[in-house]
Amino acid sequence: MPKKIYSLYSHFYDDLFGTLLHPGRRIASRLLDIQPGERILEVGIGTGISLPLYPKDAEVVGIDISKDMIKRAGEKKQRLGYSNVKLCITDASEMAFRNGYFDKAIAAHSITVVPEPLETLKEMKRVCKKNAEFFFLNYAGSDDNLIARFEKAISPIRNMLGLGKAIDLEELLRRASFEIVFKDRVNILKLWQIIKCKIN
Ligand SMILES: C[S@@+](CC[C@H](N)C(=O)[O-])C[C@H]1O[C@@H](n2cnc3c(N)ncnc32)[C@H](O)[C@@H]1O
Repeated sequence: MPKKIYSLYSHFYDDLFGTLLHPGRRIASRLLDIQPGERILEVGIGTGISLPLYPKDAEVVGIDISKDMIKRAGEKKQRLGYSNVKLCITDASEMAFRNGYFDKAIAAHSITVVPEPLETLKEMKRVCKKNAEFFFLNYAGSDDNLIARFEKAISPIRNMLGLGKAIDLEELLRRASFEIVFKDRVNILKLWQIIKCKIN
């Protein structure tokens, strides 16, 4: 299902979610603080909308389950001259990377979209070093109880549209032994959040 809907989104994803979600992506990029030579994993890289925020002296691997999203990311990579970026069509819950390969990993607007978020978190942990840093950007919804209840009620529709489902990310992070070291609200009306974690 994500493959089909994202194949469709690949044509207009940047127009819909480019400017809207960019402030959060910029904050994530600053927090990532990528150093020369570091190995970075981006889970659900989509059209490669974050590519311009990556330095060219780090090894960046972007994975996505959608061939059409990766195709768009590949076009951007060529256009922007990112020879340090590798793109792979891969399911985030079952990656083919060796244990402890990456220094940092980010899932931007993808952990609420993957069908198996807990398995994905465990896979991210497996392919990263023990002292790695993890970053999650996702829609967090309103703090207002009534609006939050409405958002939960329409979660299946959001999920069907590939916009992410309501998950208890903090509980999933705990179950996968991640420790939250920083979190903040970002983007318009502060409806999205950024979470930085390390492994417990
Ligand atoms: C909302 S987009 C996020 C794109 C981009 N990271 C951003 O910042 O806007 C979610 C992406 O997750 C991908 N995705 C969904 N399920 C996946 C899975 N199981 N494994 C890898 N990628 C997946 C989708 O194909 C889509 O490109």
